[in-house]
Amino acid sequence: MNAAQSATSMVMTNPVKIYVCTNLQFSSRSCSGQGAFEVLKALRAQPEVKDGTVSVLESVCMGYCGDGPNVKIIGGGFYHAVKPSDAVGLVAAAMAQQMSKSPVKH
Ligand code: FES
Repeated sequence: MNAAQSATSMVMTNPVKIYVCTNLQFSSRSCSGQGAFEVLKALRAQPEVKDGTVSVLESVCMGYCGDGPNVKIIGGGFYHAVKPSDAVGLVAAAMAQQMSKSPVKH
C-alpha cells in the first residue's frame, strides 16, 4: 500500500464526525429543549450517515445553550439554532470538510 492508498484508507475508516448537543438543563434553555433530538433524527436519516460516510454523535453541552440546538462538524463549522431541515446542508458541509482532507492524487 502506497502513501496515497494509506491516506485514502484512513479517511474511509475515519468518517467525518458531526456532534449534536443533546444536553438537558432544567434551570435554563438547553439544546434538547429546543429540538436537538429532532435535528439528531433528521441527520441520522441522511444516506451518507446511514452508509457510514458521516458519523453523527450526541454531545454534552457546548456552552451556547441559549442558541441551540448547536451542532459542530469536527474540523469544520459550528452551527447554532439548527433545524431538522438543515440536515441535508450539514451533511453536505461535512462531506466537503472530508473531501478537503482527502489525499491529492498525482
Ligand atoms: S445545552 Fe447545548 S450548548 Fe449547552
